[in-house]
Amino acid sequence: MGVNWTRRRALESLGLWMAGSPLLRGQELGPRLAGEPPGRIAPRNELVNTFEFEDVARRSLPARAFSEIQGSGERRGFDRIVFHPRVMVDVHELDLRLDLFGSKMYAPILVGPAAGIGRFHAEGELALVRGASAAKAAVVLSSRSSLSIKKIASESQSELWYQIYPEPDMEPVLTRVKEAVQTGCKAVCLTVGMPFQSAADGAGSPLKLVNLASPRADWALVDQVRRAAKTPVILKGIMAPEEARMAIERGADGIVVSNHGGRAVHGLAAPIDALPAVMDAVAGKMPVLIDGGFRRGSDVIAALALGARAVLVTRPVLWGLSAYGAEGVTTVLEMLQSESARTMGMCGKPNLAALDRTLVRLDRR
Ligand code: FNR
Repeated sequence: MGVNWTRRRALESLGLWMAGSPLLRGQELGPRLAGEPPGRIAPRNELVNTFEFEDVARRSLPARAFSEIQGSGERRGFDRIVFHPRVMVDVHELDLRLDLFGSKMYAPILVGPAAGIGRFHAEGELALVRGASAAKAAVVLSSRSSLSIKKIASESQSELWYQIYPEPDMEPVLTRVKEAVQTGCKAVCLTVGMPFQSAADGAGSPLKLVNLASPRADWALVDQVRRAAKTPVILKGIMAPEEARMAIERGADGIVVSNHGGRAVHGLAAPIDALPAVMDAVAGKMPVLIDGGFRRGSDVIAALALGARAVLVTRPVLWGLSAYGAEGVTTVLEMLQSESARTMGMCGKPNLAALDRTLVRLDRR
């Protein structure tokens, strides 16, 4: 039987030999790129999961920039989910498409908002949207983007949403919302519960205490944004059932269950753990999205089985961008899409409508 002797396999052997060498002991070897020689940037198509992209991003960026997109390591919630597949179901044609806020989407995986992407790649948001367009994925653009929305939109074939923060003076924010909608953004995402700039957003600048008093925490904002945008308004950062109910009452069109990646405060509940109670509170009255720590297709399918309509993914996309530019973004997104399809196929679920809570059990060990 012939052996498919790829460059990676050859390097794995070399890497394993080198890992045992006392000369190289102690040098940086990415935790999940075992077998790769230190410092090597593997060709993109040799990487097998999103975790490997994190390690290549670590090798591609200055330490300070990488620290802003380093994974949170909060995976316990996902590890507690077990699947109960069905067999003897025709899964020849796997279909991940969905309708969301009146748009037809190719798959239930969107790119989450991130401020100042120019820190991670010279072409910043332009490379991000080019990469996402090739993977047919929608993108939520941060209002703290490095480039103007007009310029970014001109490079994008993907559906775009626009994300804002509640600010003390909402007038300039609402003006930017109107511009974003005119440029073609189809929804506005209002991030709540992250009232001040995280260290990550300010290119490492120290948190200014003065900002603590500045945000507007006011449910009337939902209506204000809605009237300006005339698009669906989605609240990002809802974690509690009572807030989900309030969001419905105050006219939000959807929510994103999110703790902002746990970047501002450590020890927050994980969104995937908060999801079941939020779903019960929402009781089908609006679409619920989620983000935070989604790294595998099986994570996506677990959240969808628990009732989420779609998942936002931010850091893995930024790992792909940092390491390989637009093509890295495409590969990460396509990897998550095909892993999601594979998980559905293995579980006997040909389309998203077939996913329901009977597919998963939350193992509380
Ligand atoms: C973010 N996040 C974020 N969220 C937001 O609503 N507006 C923003 O401008 C930013 N900026 C931003 C920058 C960087 C560098 C990171 C890593 C994150 C939060 C982001 O959208 C998401 O909620 C979290 O990162 C959790 O998802 P992931 O990264 O685990 O997929």
